[in-house]
Amino acid sequence: MFQIADGISLCKVNHSERKYFDELVPLKTGTSYNSYIVRGTEKTALIDASYPQTASEFFRQIEGLERLDYIVANHGEQDHSGLLPEIMRRYPNAKLLTNAKCRGLILDAMSLDESRVETVDESSSYDLGGKTLKFYMAPWVHWPDTMFTFVPETRVLFTCDFLGAHSTLDACFAPEDESTLAAAKTYYAEIMMPYRAHCAKYIKLVREIDPLVICPSHGSAYDNPEFILRAYEAWTADSCKKLAAIPYVSMYGNSVKMAEYLSEKLSERGVSTVMVDVVNGDLGEYLKAIVDAGAIVYASSVVLAFPHPAMANIVYLTNLLKPKAKYFAVIGSLGWGGMLVKRITDMLATSKPELIGDVVAKGKPTAEDFARLSALAQTIAERLA
Ligand SMILES: Cc1cc2nc3c(=O)[nH]c(=O)nc-3n(C[C@H](O)[C@H](O)[C@H](O)COP(=O)(O)O)c2cc1C
Ligand SMILES: [Fe+2]
Ligand SMILES: [Fe+2]
Repeated sequence: MFQIADGISLCKVNHSERKYFDELVPLKTGTSYNSYIVRGTEKTALIDASYPQTASEFFRQIEGLERLDYIVANHGEQDHSGLLPEIMRRYPNAKLLTNAKCRGLILDAMSLDESRVETVDESSSYDLGGKTLKFYMAPWVHWPDTMFTFVPETRVLFTCDFLGAHSTLDACFAPEDESTLAAAKTYYAEIMMPYRAHCAKYIKLVREIDPLVICPSHGSAYDNPEFILRAYEAWTADSCKKLAAIPYVSMYGNSVKMAEYLSEKLSERGVSTVMVDVVNGDLGEYLKAIVDAGAIVYASSVVLAFPHPAMANIVYLTNLLKPKAKYFAVIGSLGWGGMLVKRITDMLATSKPELIGDVVAKGKPTAEDFARLSALAQTIAERLA
């Protein structure tokens, strides 16, 4: 347990062995599930219940907690609400406080005594004795049920998934360094980026609330909110960097040669690039790049008339995550035929970026293909200028 502020402590349960989140995104160092204990002179509250798979560590950390009056569920997902039934069994006097949407999701997901659930909204206020619980509804970061809890007396804001990071650092407060930013940025890309406009709105809300400390339920807390708020303001802004993300897959080296050439030509024109091998590389590097990139260039060979399946996976995921890049291009190589450009374009149908060029070589790229790649670099540089 870590001390966050007077009467507020952090119960940080690290899950270092966890390899994937949502069976989708690889975790470099696992993640943490954070809960917070708020003690008033009269009553005690737990903010966010933890994850069943790491239950023993959670209960070990809260061992000395004799009394629990309230459990706040800011979000119904299992990693923050999965332990509710067991916590409510062990603390039979505790009431569950949550908003109407979250209440529904929790009751769909687990069996609870409904008479112990109290529905809260922005007008609700729970006095713990010298500490008050207030609530701000913040739907869609990243489920429709999400809310923040605030303790005005200490100005501590509990944002659950919002502003979190998959990190297992043994630290109460996140150091203000590159590794903190990298973990927060990858997390933003995977979980929050599809809701970029909502994130921008709630960053403004957080600024209005003006907390001294921000306490998310993954990673470490922020005792200088400015650090994470500024980062989010840059990530959620409409403006892009002069940066092209180039995910690639190549069985025999043709498509990757084209990607490398394009990358060189882009650099010569002042556009930086992030090339990521989508089979052997780090998906997190790609996700971080598309937070800022102005263009994405998919480089793939053709397999059974379609883009290589590893590329299809990336294109599909990118379409879901809705990065702010307005432009995309397709390059790659085929042997005899297939619809590389059309298939990739079709897969981007809901995020609708604009196709600004394609170069598909037959076998190894020819001088003419390289000339077309130079022209594509020029087009990209002009669009990102
Ligand atoms: C399993 C497999 C399936 C393929 N299917 C197609 C295809 O349907 N259409 C086509 O034009 N080329 C097909 N090819 C050929 C590759 O697209 C071609 O060799 C290309 O130049 C490889 O580019 P790379 O070196 O970037 O992997 C296939 C190759 C393999 C290994
Ligand atoms: Fe969540
Ligand atoms: Fe979560």
